[in-house]
Amino acid sequence: MTGTPPEPEPADAHINASDARSYWQSISADVNGMLGGYAHISHTDLEGSRAFLAKLGIGTKTGLRTVRRALEGGAGIGRITQGLLLGLAEEIDVVEPIAKFTAALAGQPGVASVSNIGLEEWHPEPGVVYDIIWNQWCLGHLTDEQLVAYLRRCKGALRPGGEAVIVIKENMSTSRGDIFDEVDSSVTRIDKKFRDLFEEAGLELVRTELQSGFPRHIFPVRMYALR
Ligand SMILES: C[S@@+](CC[C@H](N)C(=O)[O-])C[C@H]1O[C@@H](n2cnc3c(N)ncnc32)[C@H](O)[C@@H]1O
Repeated sequence: MTGTPPEPEPADAHINASDARSYWQSISADVNGMLGGYAHISHTDLEGSRAFLAKLGIGTKTGLRTVRRALEGGAGIGRITQGLLLGLAEEIDVVEPIAKFTAALAGQPGVASVSNIGLEEWHPEPGVVYDIIWNQWCLGHLTDEQLVAYLRRCKGALRPGGEAVIVIKENMSTSRGDIFDEVDSSVTRIDKKFRDLFEEAGLELVRTELQSGFPRHIFPVRMYALR
């Protein structure tokens, strides 16, 4: 018998939300837990993010603007909320499925709400709009279809006026395609896949750059700003 071999299953077909939740439930609620043992790169990461936002006109320095409301998706313990977003936005809504990670965040000044759900379950509150929607190192837990649907909801929740922005900061697969990681049941996508999904979600890519200063042996990390 001859014929074309069956298509290999796409990497995101292996994602299992319950396995991912079990993995994260077993991880300690600290920066080292959030960054897989790489707590020492957190400072460089936050500075890279700050510089990226500054190029979008957002920041605390002269000539830059601070904003009214931000959302952090897949926030973990709130490393970015506390280390970056609280200095830039008056109010922040936090979405993170693992309640033990956000236990210390609820009720903090500037933290408007904490929702312990996955981004695939999140829907914006009616009437609430965001100036910044930050998503980092968590979108690999969503299938391609869930990610497009989530990004469409994000787009609909941006403050009208053309200045609000969705930021995505994720590891980049350096293989030919997306890679499934069975340890935390997530996928690491290639740059092209991200761009295709952004287009499918009706988003415009306004700026993108690679994070610099990270150890050479880890995945490259790319930031995307979208509207
Ligand atoms: C690598 S940590 C990153 C946390 C934070 N973004 C940071 O950079 O410090 C990944 C986070 O994604 C969360 N997560 C897992 N599944 C998720 C989902 N379906 N939606 C949103 N977040 C999810 C995990 O619980 C964990 O807090």
